[in-house]
Amino acid sequence: MQCFLMLIYVLLGFVTEIGGSSLKPVLTGPSKAYLRSQVQFHCEVPGWASPLTFELRKDTGDLIRAEHNVKVTFRLQVTEGSEGKYYCGVTGGQTSNSIQFHVVTPVSGASLSSDPDPPIRYEGQKFTLRCLVRKGTHLSFTWYHDQQEVNASSDHYRFSGDALTVDAASERHDGTYSCTAQNMMEDNPRYSSSRNLRVIVKKYMSTLKLSFTVFWNGSSLMANISCRLARGSPPVTFSLLVNGLEMDVKHMDSLEFWSVWPVSLGLDTGLAQCKAQAETQQLLSDPVPLHVVPVGGAVRVMVKYLHDADAVTTAARLTCFPDRGTFPTFSWSLNRSSLPPEGDAHVVMQNGRILFLTDISSGYYRCRARDSFNDSSIWVESEDIFIQKTDLSATPMEVIAVVFCGFLSMVIVGASCFLFWSSKRRNNSCKRCINHEIQSDAIQSDAMPMNFPADVSFKPQTNAAIFATDSPGVAAQTAEMVLTAEHEIHGEESDLDPTPPTLHIPKPTHLHPLIPKPTPKPTHLHPLIPKPTPKPTNLHPFIWIQLRPPDLVFCIEVLLKLPI
Ligand SMILES: *[C@@H]1O[C@H](CO)[C@@H](O)[C@H](O)[C@H]1NC(C)=O
Ligand SMILES: *[C@@H]1O[C@H](CO)[C@@H](O)[C@H](O)[C@H]1NC(C)=O
Ligand SMILES: *[C@@H]1O[C@H](CO)[C@@H](O)[C@H](O)[C@H]1NC(C)=O
Ligand SMILES: *[C@@H]1O[C@H](CO)[C@@H](O)[C@H](O)[C@H]1NC(C)=O
Ligand SMILES: *[C@@H]1O[C@H](CO)[C@@H](O)[C@H](O)[C@H]1NC(C)=O
Repeated sequence: MQCFLMLIYVLLGFVTEIGGSSLKPVLTGPSKAYLRSQVQFHCEVPGWASPLTFELRKDTGDLIRAEHNVKVTFRLQVTEGSEGKYYCGVTGGQTSNSIQFHVVTPVSGASLSSDPDPPIRYEGQKFTLRCLVRKGTHLSFTWYHDQQEVNASSDHYRFSGDALTVDAASERHDGTYSCTAQNMMEDNPRYSSSRNLRVIVKKYMSTLKLSFTVFWNGSSLMANISCRLARGSPPVTFSLLVNGLEMDVKHMDSLEFWSVWPVSLGLDTGLAQCKAQAETQQLLSDPVPLHVVPVGGAVRVMVKYLHDADAVTTAARLTCFPDRGTFPTFSWSLNRSSLPPEGDAHVVMQNGRILFLTDISSGYYRCRARDSFNDSSIWVESEDIFIQKTDLSATPMEVIAVVFCGFLSMVIVGASCFLFWSSKRRNNSCKRCINHEIQSDAIQSDAMPMNFPADVSFKPQTNAAIFATDSPGVAAQTAEMVLTAEHEIHGEESDLDPTPPTLHIPKPTHLHPLIPKPTPKPTHLHPLIPKPTPKPTNLHPFIWIQLRPPDLVFCIEVLLKLPI
């Protein structure tokens, strides 16, 4: 019997050797395992039901173990040396498939390193963080920025192995970073997390501004000079220069700095400048004259009327301009009684410089100004300005015509009028004149530019409004309103230009308040002469008016008819 079995065995071995695949063993088992864990490899010949002697071999053929059974299990303790290529075989038979086995060291001791160290960078510079581990193999890394996981597909970071790289740092990259290293194992993955590392991305400094306020300290007038950076990262070293001389230096943990210096009222102390210095950058502010001019001279009031869709005056903005004064404070009165800063129908803005009448109470308005830093300084007052609510749509056409045409004809010399008069267009012009007289709105419509934007609801009467609203007032007011009308045609609010108008207002001595004296030499300052602007803006009503001969002729005719 024994002999028979042996024969079969030998025969089979022979078959195996000659025939090949029928006795090919198959090895199964893990491809990786933690160090010091136990692993099992299984070996069998599929479809073979008799016991065989299986040998587990490694790499170049070192026999690890041999077992005799139908199918066998090899239990191994994983050590540092366990890594390698495993296969099994049956005695005298084929060898199995091989399994590349990896020993995985559990991760521990994760920490962060940075390049540069410490991680302080300016905008646009590069930095790299690495997630280092004391021990551990087969790792994957997860990054956290301000406790939020960094998306691996983020455009703002570059990942490679244990490194996270930012090629051009920006404000968004500033913050704390940490990483977690993890063994890439399906079962029982191990983690190790680093501590937080603060990455500072510094901003470049920009827009250094100097400003100053004054106060009375009991015995002298003091200027509090402040320097402020719109952008940057502290610390910053600020210096105050007066006429180029360094007066004060401070290392600040903020973006602003101030310094107090005595100044003399009315005396130009010099030009003050701020300097801001950071590691890689130095900025200088624009120079500001340290000159405190006391409030003085005449006080003027600029009026802007705002009209509703029906051209009815609904609101007015009065702005007060003393001739001089660096730190003025203002107060307003109506019919000689002072107006509180807050009211049902008005508000004051900009230290009181602007009085905004939300609901116009007719009457005489007046503004006064004095030095804000001296409670005993003398008030300087404007003249009375009569303000009233007007319905512009009811304005007589003659008034419009006089104002509109009066200037054109007086300013543009008679010679040119005569030329037009005698020109071939005379007949046409006359027809137009008649049309104008019949159809009162026509002047305004003709004055409209062809390219006027369709979405702006311009009221034909608005040009007239500028003059007409003034009728009960003084000539000075006319000029003011004309000057400001360009901003107000559509009732839009525009930022106040802080520079007072250069226009000098004629004294209200003229008999007819609506017709200013003809200026012999028209200058660009005159509000009613269209400026020769190459590109007319939508806002300026006077540039729209095209000086065509027919209009001119019409104007002269109207003027001749009117008894002034
Ligand atoms: C990461 O970003 C991709 C693409 O921007 C997005 O589809 C994905 O949902 C994000 N994942 C996380 C966790 O925010
Ligand atoms: C006011 O400022 C001047 C000049 O710096 C100084 O001499 C004076 O002591 C100050 N007075 C008070 C009350 O602080
Ligand atoms: C000077 O002005 C700054 C603000 O610009 C302010 O914080 C500071 O208190 C002022 N100093 C004095 C002495 O008034
Ligand atoms: C101010 O005076 C004018 C003219 O005397 C008068 O018409 C107007 O009603 C007065 N306004 C107020 C609010 O008292
Ligand atoms: C304040 O104004 C009064 C009156 O004009 C003047 O006499 C005084 O010198 C001024 N004080 C300062 C500090 O300018």
